[in-house]
Amino acid sequence: MANEDTDLRLLVRQLRWEADGVLSVLLENADGAELPAWTPGAHIDLTLPGGLVRQYSLCGSLDDRRTWRLGVLREPDGRGGSAAVHDRLRAGMVLEACGPRNNFALGDAQRYVFIAGGIGITPILAMVREAERRGADWTLLYGGRCRESMAFVEELRGHEGKVTLHPEAEHGLLPLVDLLATPVPGALVYCCGPERLIGAVSDAMASWPPGSLHIERFRPVAPAAEMEDSDHEFEVEAAGSGVRVRVPVGTTVVRALESVGVYPATSCEEGICGTCETKVLDGVPDHRDSLLSPEEQQAGNSMMICVSRCRGPRLVLDI
Ligand code: FES
Repeated sequence: MANEDTDLRLLVRQLRWEADGVLSVLLENADGAELPAWTPGAHIDLTLPGGLVRQYSLCGSLDDRRTWRLGVLREPDGRGGSAAVHDRLRAGMVLEACGPRNNFALGDAQRYVFIAGGIGITPILAMVREAERRGADWTLLYGGRCRESMAFVEELRGHEGKVTLHPEAEHGLLPLVDLLATPVPGALVYCCGPERLIGAVSDAMASWPPGSLHIERFRPVAPAAEMEDSDHEFEVEAAGSGVRVRVPVGTTVVRALESVGVYPATSCEEGICGTCETKVLDGVPDHRDSLLSPEEQQAGNSMMICVSRCRGPRLVLDI
């Protein structure tokens, strides 16, 4: 995972409607300097009016070092982030931000299959441009509730042979089985969208080689606070200082470390953003994040200490 964090103050230059319920937010560096470089799939942590911190994919042009663009869907059943953007954000405000960070980087491949559901188009948009720039074969299947709710469609014009728009109101559910039933040699699949789309894509790709599917979630697979029967108390050692602390059931590694004066960087605290990813020097993590691939979880080299726990009695962390 590529993790480059910079603390930033960003000026809201403009808010613009892109589709029903979708606003784009154009941001500039508040001090007028160039913005950090980023790669397709990257997101930033943005502190919204009211103090909520949310992660948003960058979806503008990689070459534009003056402006970043985000796309934000109003989610009536959301947890307050989209309402803060839609109801409280105004041009001229200055927001704190951190990033860019990329947990969804575009790997090297001869062919790419992109699948976007709704606002999941935001990271995919930058990937599509990059695949085109690399001269790779690519296709995009972009689904949405209805045509009017699908943002950034205009920007996909000119790729008619490669892009399939699939509003559910006109065509029903995405034809994932048709698309993915047979593994495509040398292809990587990138999918971003709601959980039911990610689940359906994973199921349809059961016969693909491991590592073919790359996903980005908006929400954790399970609520962060959810306890499991296997939860038990364990010890964590922070290798940097040698400090040790017990992590009781119901307490996260982050909170336990903070109680003894070790303050890891965190953001979402739900296992979806990657900010707290920490190298594991000894012990076996019990992964609870929604970010690491099954292969990465199996390797156990790092863990998201905001949600993940320990399979045994003790972890030694590179912190
Ligand atoms: Fe976001 Fe841990 S703080 S994954």
